[in-house]
Amino acid sequence: MTFLCRCDDLSDPGSLGVEDHGVFVVKRDGQYFAYRNHCPHLGVELNWLEHQFLDSDDALIQCATHGALFVIENGECVAGPCLGDTLEPVAICERDGELHLVDNR
Ligand code: FES
Repeated sequence: MTFLCRCDDLSDPGSLGVEDHGVFVVKRDGQYFAYRNHCPHLGVELNWLEHQFLDSDDALIQCATHGALFVIENGECVAGPCLGDTLEPVAICERDGELHLVDNR
């Protein structure tokens, strides 16, 4: 397994980018969700500012480039130019207060 971050590094709701692995993690209601940092519209990174992946209400994931909005829990785009597309989920697990990538090997 590959270490991503400590659970304490995230507020709730909150988001955190892990640049080395090209992914980001979102926490909401005590649950963690991770996606590849790749907008389905143009394939660019979603964030302009480090660790800022949520909209101003912390309700949805937002692409900084053209403002596409994605559901935190399933990555589905609900507004914007890639409506109906989905962020690519990344499997993670929580262990001893840390989040890890689940390696599919
Ligand atoms: S690149 Fe993300 S909405 Fe256009």
